[in-house]
Amino acid sequence: MPLFPDYIIQEVADKNDIYDVISKTVRLKKAGSSYIGLCPFHNEKTPSFSVSPRRGIFKCFGCGEGGDVIRFVMKSEGLSFFDAVTKLADSANISLPKVSGYNKEEEEKKKEHNNLIYQINKEAASFFYSSIKNSNEAIAYFKKRQLDSQTVKMFWLGFAPNSWTSLFEHLKQMGYTEGDIFDAGLIKRHESGRYYDTFRNRIMFPIFDSKKNIIGFGGRVMDDSKPKYLNSQDSPIFSKSRNLYGLNIALCSKKEFCILSEGYMDTIALIKSGHDNTVATLGTALTSQQAKLLSNYFKEVVICYDSDKAGRIATLRAITVLREENIKISILDLKAEKDPDEYIKTYGKARFDAALSARKTDMVYLMDYFGENYDLKKSDDVISYIADVTAYLKLVKSSVETDVYVGMLSEKTGVGKDAILSQIGIKKDEAPKLSSLADAEVINVVNKSGLPADNKEYLNKTRSLLLGTLFYDRKLYERFSSKLDVAMFERSVHKTIFEFIKSSYEKGEKLSNTTLLNSFETEDDIQEACGILALDIQSEDNIKAVNDYINEINAKAGPEMALELLRQNKITLEEFNRIINNKG
Ligand code: CTP
Ligand code: MN
Repeated sequence: MPLFPDYIIQEVADKNDIYDVISKTVRLKKAGSSYIGLCPFHNEKTPSFSVSPRRGIFKCFGCGEGGDVIRFVMKSEGLSFFDAVTKLADSANISLPKVSGYNKEEEEKKKEHNNLIYQINKEAASFFYSSIKNSNEAIAYFKKRQLDSQTVKMFWLGFAPNSWTSLFEHLKQMGYTEGDIFDAGLIKRHESGRYYDTFRNRIMFPIFDSKKNIIGFGGRVMDDSKPKYLNSQDSPIFSKSRNLYGLNIALCSKKEFCILSEGYMDTIALIKSGHDNTVATLGTALTSQQAKLLSNYFKEVVICYDSDKAGRIATLRAITVLREENIKISILDLKAEKDPDEYIKTYGKARFDAALSARKTDMVYLMDYFGENYDLKKSDDVISYIADVTAYLKLVKSSVETDVYVGMLSEKTGVGKDAILSQIGIKKDEAPKLSSLADAEVINVVNKSGLPADNKEYLNKTRSLLLGTLFYDRKLYERFSSKLDVAMFERSVHKTIFEFIKSSYEKGEKLSNTTLLNSFETEDDIQEACGILALDIQSEDNIKAVNDYINEINAKAGPEMALELLRQNKITLEEFNRIINNKG
């Protein structure tokens, strides 16, 4: 957000009293040092919206909205940060410097340009669609691939005519410029300077983003020539590694899992047979960005790749990538040497659905998959087999899951569980490592250790109270500064606020909540920080309160830090128990 310098923004915030600004639209009643009223950001009958003029902060304890005066104007009037600052500067008669670097105008131009490209793509898709009827070859191809007219419409399929400039001419006629059509990737420039259509004599598959904009195209030849598919080049609006074919449809699906396929045709065939939760990568191996995308929207990914050698290898890679995310992984093994599209056309939907129900979790699939290569009656084979499988078992993060699979592998091979565990890198006496434990298991360990399960939450509340009380009270800070250290805090928001208080006071600066809030990058962090700044506690004895908070954190944070070290594998379970027990 390259914008105005901090001091100007602070001046704007200082000269617009938050009470004055908010009370223009919200009825506020005095409550202690703050004011309360009905929250303008959600419906409520009892007030949970609080404004602290002393702190320059508002916070709704109902819906969570919070911020300084600038953020109030942004949120209540739907303005950008830039516009809210400009508006408030205006009403306080502050003249803003011309900002270099920013560029609302440039940002808006970029947005406009992107919208124009979407529009050109959409126009191209309509052109491709209406070109089908002029080509007997295309009509025959759609028929051969069982793509009926309803499917063609649903996926906006089309045909790029066998011509060098028909799309280019059409788009120019619609009023689009060479430059913009080029930016959309729909034409290429010849050495001679002449432009020609990128896609010629191909069946066209528009690619949509999650907001249903057409961001690119895949084009397939109708015979065996190469390349079979030609895809739009990556551009500011199209990235093969960040998008998925079919995601626009899958996001509307009610199903909790998604089916991951390799190709356009596979996705279309599966969606047509009722699996509206199918997506495909865009001609590249599954990327970590795509895996993250899927884990944001689904609880499980069912990998349904081609059952040929390449598909099986791609399956192994996809498992490795997906195991980094918090998502269940299973494999739909079609067995027959066919891709999902051919499979459904040959064997029908019922048999596909049965194979889907019989899907295996990734690790079970891998045990079977590697098992095919070996004769487990031979000791050499057993050794190689275990090496193959454990290379993947290492990716499993939960120790319960590890234990289940190690048990299965042990039973299958006759090799003891301890030996397999050590092959995975877990030595018996230090297993299980906490970093590989799921949250539920962590709670279990904590309970056994005698540390209260809610210790962490309780401690973080104490930390928030400490920071909330210190904020704006220079004298209080100075009195305790020798007892305060950033290591007392664990959450990054806490650490940031503490460092901010410390450095502002040490530099002799006034604390500025606006500068602090601007230093956070995510809305979640801003909201958490506002929650802390809004703790405008005016206790009778702040000195005693701060003293208590510090003592409490120091007494309880020891075990908590030990837990953290255990999580990061920096100490063993044994050492952890020793620390906890010493604390009594
Ligand atoms: N692909 C590509 N470029 C190629 C070949 C393939 O981008 N030259 C991508 C396409 O997204 C394609 C996917 O890889 O959908 C899978 O390729 P393949 O299995 O060969 O094609 P299918 O999807 O099965 O398409 P079809 O059934 O039409 O052969
Ligand atoms: Mn195919």
